[in-house]
Amino acid sequence: MKTLVNGITIASSDQGTGLPIVFLHGFPLNRTMWAAQENALCSQFRIITIDLRGHGESDAPLWRYTLEQSADDVIALLDHLGIQRALFVGLSMGGYILFAFHRKYAARVKGLILADTKAQADTEEGRNGRFQLAQIAYKKGPSAIADVMVPKLLSPATIQTSPDLVQQVRAMIEGSQISGIAGDLMAMALRPDSVPLLSRITCPTQIIVGELDQPTPPSDAKLMAEHIPHARLAIIPNAAHLTNLEQPEAFNQIVTAFALSFEK
Ligand code: MLT
Repeated sequence: MKTLVNGITIASSDQGTGLPIVFLHGFPLNRTMWAAQENALCSQFRIITIDLRGHGESDAPLWRYTLEQSADDVIALLDHLGIQRALFVGLSMGGYILFAFHRKYAARVKGLILADTKAQADTEEGRNGRFQLAQIAYKKGPSAIADVMVPKLLSPATIQTSPDLVQQVRAMIEGSQISGIAGDLMAMALRPDSVPLLSRITCPTQIIVGELDQPTPPSDAKLMAEHIPHARLAIIPNAAHLTNLEQPEAFNQIVTAFALSFEK
């Protein structure tokens, strides 16, 4: 489905009925990363996956990339779909967007699943790294970004034993446009510290992290779990940053149990 939102076209999928669950992908991927979740969960819930601006089949304009802008895109799409309140799942950058979304639209959030993400802002070193990566994207293209990103996203064991998954992740990155990649990098570099927000998140919250996650390690997940009132924390073994792709069954079980708790 393609929807005109805030002056650009945003692509999304909407499958199933019941409690709406909205999935926001990580950087620099797209909504196809949620295929295993969509397939497993759409018989019980309404599953909405979105290509964030700059990715997948959505437009990748040259400018206006902030996490708040992405949150505004999501709310406009939900308005279009007639969804008042939903459960939100955000992985990594998707989680950063959920913090921006919660700041502005808390009343629309029924519950949060924060997967492989963190609340802290970038360090100076982290911001410099983003600038370097944007330069690589600009000079060498998305395939060079895939070379840098794949070892950060997947565990060494996954890279060795799951060539199809590696190829799927590479294809998502290689399909991203430079404007989207550079735009996201700037948006993430400029994001505020969300640690002060954590104690104000009062909706039910599930945190998920891969035990081998390097960009957002379990220590970051524990920090969120300590500050968000009553948050639950699940650490998935044998997974790095892309827990939903590396261990889809474990990931789906956690999401299903959490979503079913809203029906009690
Ligand atoms: C992501 O997976 O979205 C990125 O690793 C997030 C980041 O670079 O901070």
